[in-house]
Amino acid sequence: MSDRSCLAIVLAAGLGTRMRSALPKVMHEIGGLPLVGHVLNSVVEAGANQVAVVVGPEMPRLEEHVALRVPHATCHVQVERLGTAHAVKAAESAFEDACDHVLVLFGDTPLVSSQTLHRLRACLAQGADVAVLGFEAQDPFGYGRLLERDGELVAIREEKEATEEERLVTLCNAGIMAFRGDALSELLADIKNNNAKGEYYLTDAVEVARSKGMRVGFETADENEVQGVNDRSQLASCEAVFQKVQRETVMENGVTLQAPDTVYFSWDTEIAPDVVVEPNVVFGSGVKVESGARIRAFSHLEQAHVSSEAIVGPYARLRPGAEIGEGARIGNFVEIKKACIEAGAKVNHLSYIGDARVGAKSNIGAGTITCNYDGYMKHHTDIGAGCFVGSDSVLVAPVTLGDGAFIAAGSVVTSDVPANALTVGRAKQVTKENRATTLRDMLAAAKAARQK
Ligand code: UD1
Ligand code: MG
Repeated sequence: MSDRSCLAIVLAAGLGTRMRSALPKVMHEIGGLPLVGHVLNSVVEAGANQVAVVVGPEMPRLEEHVALRVPHATCHVQVERLGTAHAVKAAESAFEDACDHVLVLFGDTPLVSSQTLHRLRACLAQGADVAVLGFEAQDPFGYGRLLERDGELVAIREEKEATEEERLVTLCNAGIMAFRGDALSELLADIKNNNAKGEYYLTDAVEVARSKGMRVGFETADENEVQGVNDRSQLASCEAVFQKVQRETVMENGVTLQAPDTVYFSWDTEIAPDVVVEPNVVFGSGVKVESGARIRAFSHLEQAHVSSEAIVGPYARLRPGAEIGEGARIGNFVEIKKACIEAGAKVNHLSYIGDARVGAKSNIGAGTITCNYDGYMKHHTDIGAGCFVGSDSVLVAPVTLGDGAFIAAGSVVTSDVPANALTVGRAKQVTKENRATTLRDMLAAAKAARQK
């Protein structure tokens, strides 16, 4: 199929009023990626070499997102929203130049796979002029029904125009259609708006095509794959399907999920085989975990890289720029941001390490903090290899600890420490023999005097 040119038109101009949101509907996220971003990924994977997105007026964030995901995509503004066929027409300039296949998709139907789109394209390659994607609906209410005669698709009937008998049909229109490139303009020109909603329905293309003697084919997909998002509840149900697919995929690839239903993935999470993920872990965007690593319970990771054999958590937070080296240990209540924890280093308890490097095999004691921010700028802390930083130390950046440096517990380190030096940066301990007893006697006497 790659030898055939393909244009994908993604309809995303709808207001999505049932979302009750200031954001265009297609900008709501599933697995950390806007709905429309999922559709764009699928069409590119399905071999679309040209992408056109139909947007509403004043949707700058949507246009920015499209440009970010598919820089060569074009955006077309549909000013009045007069129906799905009218929306396709808004992108007319994109299909004026000849192309073999045109795929039309809805920006609010995020889970359609590139394999399904390939099947629709294969239908065209086998001689159909129009190919429609259908599905068996548990509850067909609100969907267009696919009407068949002798195994052939003869029409799509919208809910509002359907007869009682037609409403009993459960084979529904998923809203994804493929057209032979040179048929589309001709079909759109003949679609009228003489229906209950006074809209130009793209679904009428089926009857128009048949009246012109064109061939119409259809393929089916699983309902889960083609469910659309019109409200927050459908958004949640799409998220649930997406997470289920991600979990199954990572397990098929050799990852152990101890409690799959409690682990949340991002659309771009990369996890190598033989990683173990304990319960209640959340992967934000941009996480890569290498083979043999273990992510322990209740950890949250985002834009982070975990090398092989490293152990993260329980209750760890890896923020953007966390780079965890081979066999390193990040323990409970530790937050790492924009910092490289080199191979074999340990940050095991209650620490914040930000804008820093922790050299190989260094040990960072409980409660250690890098003071990276002075209220105006961020500063770097550089800890060499094989260092020992005692518990509850504060490293005030910018500061450097040479290889093998040893910092006594409770130190506040404000200037550089040479390699293999010992630094004690705290008040000297003062101990007075038996003074505790004298002190207690004094205090008890004072209390008794007050109570008289
Ligand atoms: C549509 C189909 C229906 C199908 C259902 C699947 C038509 C006429 N009906 O109905 O057969 O079963 O989807 O979910 O196609 N849009 C625009 N501009 C417009 C109108 C719509 O860009 O003027 C976009 C919307 O943003 C949305 C998509 O097209 O992404 C579908 O529009 P919607 O009004 O939701 O169609 P449905 O009534 O759900
Ligand atoms: Mg809809």
